[in-house]
Amino acid sequence: MFDLDTIRKDFPVLQQKVHGKPLVYFDNGATTQKPRQVAQAINDYYEKKNSSIHRGVHFLSSQATIEYENARETVRNYISARDKAEVIFTSGATGSLNLLAFSFGEKFVKEGDEIIVTEMEHHANIVPWQLLCSRKKAILKVIPFNDTGDLEIEKLDELITEKTRLVSVIHTSNVLGTINPVEKIIEKAHNKNIPVCIDAAQSIQHMPIDVQKLDCDFLVFSAHKAYGPTGIGVFYGKEEYLKQLPPYQGGGDMVDKVSFETTTFNQLPFKFEAGTTNYIGAVGMAEGLKYIQSIGLNNIAKQEYELLTYAKRKFEAIGGITIYGNSATKTSILSFLIDGVHPLDAGMVFDKLGIAVRTGTHCAQPIMQHFGVDGMIRASLSFYNTKEEIDYLCRGIEQVKMMFT
Ligand code: ALA
Repeated sequence: MFDLDTIRKDFPVLQQKVHGKPLVYFDNGATTQKPRQVAQAINDYYEKKNSSIHRGVHFLSSQATIEYENARETVRNYISARDKAEVIFTSGATGSLNLLAFSFGEKFVKEGDEIIVTEMEHHANIVPWQLLCSRKKAILKVIPFNDTGDLEIEKLDELITEKTRLVSVIHTSNVLGTINPVEKIIEKAHNKNIPVCIDAAQSIQHMPIDVQKLDCDFLVFSAHKAYGPTGIGVFYGKEEYLKQLPPYQGGGDMVDKVSFETTTFNQLPFKFEAGTTNYIGAVGMAEGLKYIQSIGLNNIAKQEYELLTYAKRKFEAIGGITIYGNSATKTSILSFLIDGVHPLDAGMVFDKLGIAVRTGTHCAQPIMQHFGVDGMIRASLSFYNTKEEIDYLCRGIEQVKMMFT
């Protein structure tokens, strides 16, 4: 059963006032709030269990190692990976994409080769590839999207050539909310033996993902957008690729034998986990994923869809609002502009009303360039938001309109 009152009690941060008004938190695309269960797991760890993993035979270290590996199993199960060795802990989606761009680039990309991304990527799935392309003199190609916010995936057929080495696409746009047809993209790429990376930073918390069914070759996401802590995320890769990729960073844990002449590397997944990892973050992340599972991804999707359609209807009724991203398949992200009002001005008024929305370019400047705007306002909704909060935002919009137009 989906019981909103009980759920909201799990998020103490939602119960506070900001500028004397009850907080309305609509910035979930940037980071979600954390339920008590996650905070408690992390606190417990620091108070009772802390010890570095894979480092000692003493009791606490062994326990810490077990918990860390249990967290890896929780992630494996959450994304239905074939094996725990395919789940690598990183600092987040950005860390994972940088890892992939470096290691994959070292192994497979040479001068004149091509990488394909989409026009709706956030910067983390653009810049690491540009850095790779400038290092290797490779070429970055882009699948465009139309004004509705849907990818023109038929163009992928023309973009793929015998020089294409990888396709890396955002699953769900952090600005437009579009859920991209990644199954079709994977099929098209695989027909030409090209691997595909899915950036699941904005989908992992909204819908079930089965990496084996999807048959993606790589998948990345962050914990902090999925009700977990910051500074931890996942890089999933098929073992057949991970075995071939060189390490990204050197240091403890990722080694087998080290001498001044040469070093051999540890087995998967440790080959990609140099240094003391964020093991407490991993435990917190697992707790966040278990929290999602306890509510149920189907319940989450249903509730968030209801909130999205309600908000869209209310926006239409107000009028004078342009919504960017109107795909028939989208998650609960509403990026918009109020006619004649700068997004930052609106954002400041909303803040005074206790409403947290994101304003600016949302780390996706090419999307702003597509629409010829400097920035947008984004309300990104979570299952813990309410229709009353959407009503309150709409009253805020009316107020902004009166003040500025
Ligand atoms: N973290 C960025 C966002 O807010 C990408 O969507």
